[in-house]
This record gives sequence, structure tokens and C-alpha cells, in this order.
Amino acid sequence: MRADKISFKNFRNLNTELEFSEGVNLLLGKNGEGKTNIAEGIWLNSAGKSFKNATDKEMIRFGSETGEIILNFTAADRQNELRTVLHYDGGREIYLNGVRLRRTADMIGYFFAVMFTPLTLSMIEDGPSERRRFADIAISQLKPAYLRSLMTYNAALSERNACLKLVRDKKATDYQLLAWECMMAPDGARVIGERKMYLKRLSEIAAEEYEKITGGKEKLTCHYQSSGGQLEAEIAKASEALKAWNRREPYGSVDRMELFPIENGLLQKIYNNRKKDIKEGSTSLGPHRDDFEIFIDGRLARDFASQGQKRSAVLALKAAECRIIKEEIGEDPVVILDDVLSELDSARRKYVLSNLSAGQTVITSCEAAKLIRVEKGRVFSVKEGKATEKEG
Ligand SMILES: Nc1ncnc2c1ncn2[C@@H]1O[C@H](COP(=O)(O)OP(=O)(O)OP(=O)(O)O)[C@@H](O)[C@H]1O
Ligand SMILES: [Mg+2]
Repeated sequence: MRADKISFKNFRNLNTELEFSEGVNLLLGKNGEGKTNIAEGIWLNSAGKSFKNATDKEMIRFGSETGEIILNFTAADRQNELRTVLHYDGGREIYLNGVRLRRTADMIGYFFAVMFTPLTLSMIEDGPSERRRFADIAISQLKPAYLRSLMTYNAALSERNACLKLVRDKKATDYQLLAWECMMAPDGARVIGERKMYLKRLSEIAAEEYEKITGGKEKLTCHYQSSGGQLEAEIAKASEALKAWNRREPYGSVDRMELFPIENGLLQKIYNNRKKDIKEGSTSLGPHRDDFEIFIDGRLARDFASQGQKRSAVLALKAAECRIIKEEIGEDPVVILDDVLSELDSARRKYVLSNLSAGQTVITSCEAAKLIRVEKGRVFSVKEGKATEKEG
């Protein structure tokens, strides 16, 4: 996967064009000149949204009606163009090779990138939402159906939350509530099933990478943690029982038979928590509250790992994310590192630059080029929303 060229028109403070090379593309500049905006713009083509969770309005240059990004990229030796026009009044136009895509979600799965920011580095000590986000984005890129399930589940979840309040005020019935619960269960189960399968593979690869980083002294593992948990053991047993006469599949597709127990378990859990949920006016259990826990030598990293161990664990997880993409699509993703190199010591910096991915990287830094020696690649200087290539 290679980003060849990107041009920005009234996207944030940017009106500029960059031609990238293979290898490292280093963006240098002072604070507030537009480096992160470039990283955000590249990433938008991969995830369909801002890594800062910004709205389209926020990404359009102050005072402009529209903002535009055109990315030319090479995938499987073919050249492609993604063109995105953001409108201040809402709506987004997206064209892939000139053909308009129906929905934003349709742009996902063509241009593969992995984003790494200081927020990623604190993923282990932060709350579960940052870890869920990590898994959701990674899986959505590989499986558009996952994103659809996640969106359907979230839509049903917000209806149930609204319904809980109406039931509390005696303006809706228990059966209306049950209807939303039944809507949540199948897609919620698919979300859980896909996350478990992804994390299993991620855990295997991250353990190998962690060993490389630390010299093999400790073992890294991660587990999916369903909120509530009471039925978790039962669900696992049911899945095991089904496996007895069901072929195991490698990472690729969730077995429908594995989803039934999850679906029933989820429905029961949600149903059983009604009283509490009605009182609180929100749904206390389900994939929107789940987490994945990271362990080092069997101990919860969040509570017991040192700062350095946590950093190594995050690097291992990101490297695993890159490797899964490579396994699935046969190409290395474009790695975007926004402001992270200066936060790492030299050994970890070296790992990020030489081991995280064999493909193209885009790196932003406000420090001089001394952090990185660019042997194969380009250096740009970013100033007032314009990028210019530095010679030599
Ligand atoms: N919608 C917008 N329209 C115009 N300018 C914007 C918009 N949103 C942000 N900016 C401007 O973009 C600049 C920030 O750019 P960016 O975050 O890319 O800086 P940076 O080069 O990454 O800096 P740092 O080194 O501090 O991370 C700010 O000056 C901000 O005012
Ligand atoms: Mg920045």
C-alpha cells in the first residue's frame, strides 16, 4: 500500500499538495503549522473519519463552505484516487476513481493505514473506550460488515436507552423495550464474536513482537472482557461444545454457530439488567461497555506494568495490527506516526522505524531531523498550511 500524492483544498489550515516517496516521509515544522492536519487528512481516507473525532464542519477551513482532499494511492499495483468533499451544510461527497460512493462507510477498505499518536501510547492506562476504539477501527478496515453491525447495534442501543426512560415514565411498554433488546442481540453478538477472534490473533502476534522488543523475558497476552461477565463462562462452554462437531476456522470469518450462544447470552444479560437500566436510563451491559485487557506475565498491565513495559506493549500491539493487515490483504499498511517519536527512547524509536512495518511511513515531528535519518524517503517542511519538499 502506498500513498503517492495528497492534495488539500481548505481542509483545516491546509492548501497544499505533497508527493510522497516509498520508505519514510518526514514532515517537519513548528507547532501549529499543520503537520497533524496532514496526518488527519491521510487517515481520513483509511477510516472515513478523523482520529480526533472531529466533525466535518470542524475540518473545513474557518469561513469556507467546503473542504477537499484528493488522495492518489497504489494498492495491489493499481493506481487509485479517493476524492472527498466536505460540506459545511452537511453531507459528504466521496468518489473512488471518479465513481461516487453511496455512504462514508463505503470508502473504508481501499486505502489501508495504521495511525499512531501520543493517545495510542497511553492506550493501556486509559479507560476501555480507547481500547475498544483500537479494536473497532482495526476490524472495520478489514471487514466492512463488522462496521455495519457496530452501527446497527449502536443505533438499536440508543433506541433502547430512549425507551428505558419512557418506560420509567410509563410512556412505553416492556414489550417495546424487548423489541429493541431483540434488535441489539444479533449485531451485538457479531461485534463480540469478531472482536474476540481479532484479539485472539492480535494476542498471538503481539506476544511475538513483545518478545522481540524486550528480548523475550516476559509474555504479553490480551483477552476480551465482556461487561457483566456472569454468562461468559457459560458462553465459552457452549462454544466449546459446538466446536466438537464444527470445523475450526482460522482468522477469517466468525462461525455462525459460535454466535448463537453469544447472542442468547447477550439478550439474557441485557434483559436481566432491566430494572437497574430503567433506573439509570442507560444500558449497563453489552459490547459498548466491553474491554480488552492486556497482561504481562499474567498480571494486568494497567495496574502492574512499568511505564516502559506499557510502551513496549503498545508498540507490540500496533506491530501486530500491521501484521494482521499484511496477512489479510497481502500488503503492508501505510503507517502514520503523529508526534510519537520524540516520546520514545532510542531503542523503541529504532524498533518503530525498522520493525513496525516494512512499508511506507509518514512521520511528523517538530524537532529537527536528528531524530530520524532518512535514507530512503523525503523530508518536507510544513509552514502555515503549506508543505514544501526539502532538498538534500
Ligand atoms: N478548521 C480549521 N480551519 C483553519 N485552521 C484550522 C482549522 N482547524 C485547525 N486549524 C489550525 O491548524 C493549526 C494546527 O495545525 P496542526 O495541529 O496540524 O499543527 P502541528 O503542526 O501538528 O503542530 P504541533 O507541532 O503543535 O503538533 C492551528 O493553527 C489551528 O488554528
Ligand atoms: Mg501536531
